[in-house]
Amino acid sequence: MTGQTCGRNLVLVGFMGTGKSTQGRCCAARLNYAYCDTDRVIEGRIGCTIPEFFAAQGEAVFRKIEREVIADLAASQGLVIATGGGAVLDPLNVQALRRNGFVVLLTASPRTILRRVGNGRTRPLLADAPDPLARIQEMLAQREPHYRRAAHCRVDTSGRPARAVTDNILSLFEMTQQE
Ligand code: S3P
Repeated sequence: MTGQTCGRNLVLVGFMGTGKSTQGRCCAARLNYAYCDTDRVIEGRIGCTIPEFFAAQGEAVFRKIEREVIADLAASQGLVIATGGGAVLDPLNVQALRRNGFVVLLTASPRTILRRVGNGRTRPLLADAPDPLARIQEMLAQREPHYRRAAHCRVDTSGRPARAVTDNILSLFEMTQQE
């Protein structure tokens, strides 16, 4: 599906390192939709990086801004929205994103996530972990019910070419457009 204009947003949720930003850009290009990454919009508002903001203001203030940004973006139409990995922890975010959006959960194995996030310096919730793999496994287990509730469907990204994942997401999205 390319170049169509239609209202429903395509929303990508999932843990850090599951490919939301890469897939968001690819899906937006193929759909001819605008692409928004909630973390980048937040950084534009706060005027610094997310790790800097976590260090200065803490996670709770970050989550409040994340909620405002998601409410704004979710009220728009025809967007591909990539969310931060913790966005679905807030039921208000889930409600807003699902109202006018088809929500796809991207998944990856803990080892794949660890490889993709590298030293975790850009991810404050992983940066101080003595055992990053254990932290990832623990956070995935805690968050799984939230991801499950938020998403209409899930697509695994481990060991798959990016192009195949994009095709997979877009075919699922296309099916919902025909409903
Ligand atoms: C977070 C994930 C990050 C970012 C922030 C918190 C999380 O986004 O929003 O560091 O709680 O999982 P990515 O999933 O894009 O890394």
